[in-house]
Amino acid sequence: MSNTLLQQEVDKRRTFAIISHPDAGKTTITEKVLLFGRAIQTAGTVKGRGSNQHAKSDWMDMEKERGISVTTSVMQFPYNDCLVNLLDTPGHEDFSEDTYRTLTAVDSCLMVIDAAKGVEDRTRKLMEVTRLRDTPIITFMNKLDRDIRDPMELLDEVESELNIACAPVSWPIGCGKGFQGVYHIHRDESILYQSGQGHTIQDARIIKGLNNPELDEAIGADIAQDLRDELELVMGASHAFDHELFLSGELTPVFFGTALGNFGVDHMLDGLTEWAPKPMARPTHDREVKADEEKFSGFVFKIQANMDPRHRDRIAFMRIVSGKYQQGMKLRHVRLGKQINISDAVTFMAGDRSRAEDAFAGDIIGLHNHGTIQIGDTFTQGEDLKFAGIPNFAPELFRRIRLKDPLRQKQLLKGLIQLSEEGAVQVFRPLQSNDLIVGAVGVLQFDMVVARLKAEYNVDALYEPINVATARWVECDDEKKLDEFQRKNQANLALDGGDNLTYIAPTMVNLNLTQERFPDIDLRATREH
Ligand code: G4P
Repeated sequence: MSNTLLQQEVDKRRTFAIISHPDAGKTTITEKVLLFGRAIQTAGTVKGRGSNQHAKSDWMDMEKERGISVTTSVMQFPYNDCLVNLLDTPGHEDFSEDTYRTLTAVDSCLMVIDAAKGVEDRTRKLMEVTRLRDTPIITFMNKLDRDIRDPMELLDEVESELNIACAPVSWPIGCGKGFQGVYHIHRDESILYQSGQGHTIQDARIIKGLNNPELDEAIGADIAQDLRDELELVMGASHAFDHELFLSGELTPVFFGTALGNFGVDHMLDGLTEWAPKPMARPTHDREVKADEEKFSGFVFKIQANMDPRHRDRIAFMRIVSGKYQQGMKLRHVRLGKQINISDAVTFMAGDRSRAEDAFAGDIIGLHNHGTIQIGDTFTQGEDLKFAGIPNFAPELFRRIRLKDPLRQKQLLKGLIQLSEEGAVQVFRPLQSNDLIVGAVGVLQFDMVVARLKAEYNVDALYEPINVATARWVECDDEKKLDEFQRKNQANLALDGGDNLTYIAPTMVNLNLTQERFPDIDLRATREH
């Protein structure tokens, strides 16, 4: 493949994920995005959840076809002149470390905020993760068909709580029952909303120019005048869009709309395809790898096990960093130092569902994994590279795990360590006891671990509560100081699945005190694979 052809393919890729608090509208907006990407034909045959079911069932078929749970993990579709990859970030109960790690595999994020509620907990957490790489953020203020909070106040809240400047690209005209549409600041157009059209791509009425008398006639002279006055204030008080600041993660363009009413989602997609970065270069331990390099490289950011015990197969999700994947190619599994044949990778083209034969930098492919692939593994066409920055995140939930049959301790430990290598869960072994502590980011991970221990290792285990608030990886270059720290904190120290030293804190207060007493010890909330 010539360099320019490769370049063209790479340049049109946009790979992003959605960050939001549960119920802000991620599923609904995903469905509308797929509608615009022509990956589904109609959305929302029934109102509300029914519409979500529709998107789901479309993907369930695919799951059946492939005999593995890839449901909505990655959705690829064309929009404008781009090929967009939307990576699913598990939310609700299925929230897990995978959610965090997926954010390290994208080039930009869409932040969806319920405009009646503003910035919520989960969004705060996920934004913290995007800050590790200064990922560019696009914001969608959702649910304008409901009574929302003052839009200016919402922008202020995002700025102060998430520490990112806001540049409104569209501005709402009313909300709730009085929602009339948005004024698109960049296009100088008012785009009018019609309710009850959420299942289709709308032919919205567009009025060019803020001072156009047609606007007065369409939405009422008073409302039109209020809008003009408000916009004058907004323009004075908010930031103008700046592409450089967006790319460095310091400023977010903000769109308003309703995902349920399918209004404003296309404005956001236009912004995303125009401004969001194409596949970016990535650092390795030796050099930076550019997306348009001819040789293939990629890293694994997530491993998904099939919960169906009849299929022991797992899929390793790999983000392609450079070059092109072709079916049947040989790749070097760098950690094992082995060449492997990739004959049947899964690709994720939405819509026609045919298995694409090739994939490019920016795309995600799924490798069948029989236990030899771990999170963070790098694959190349020969070079010994290791991509940096695919972290473990400190778990937020902890339980002691215990065997029903004490004779299977060895199998339990083996299972837990393998599951932790796979990134499904984290395991900690306190230095001073024989306890085994399981740590997770989401509650569902606990059930999944017990189910897999039973199915794959024939181990019956159960949990007991344990008084642990958080864990931190211990790092220090000064051996003497590290020794002293270890001596004084034996009771709180443990080894993780990879034998790394961790500090197990019963409370956050304890953690803070310990950090104050030992300022030279690095107690880290993330650890690189
Ligand atoms: P999530 O994936 O982020 O958790 O959110 P999801 O899309 O499932 O949306 C959560 C709820 O919010 C859904 O309602 C959905 O219909 C609703 N919703 C999403 N976008 C909008 C919007 O723009 N306007 C309004 N009014 N509602 C929106 P639900 O839980 O199914 O309840 P129901 O209202 O359908 O009964």
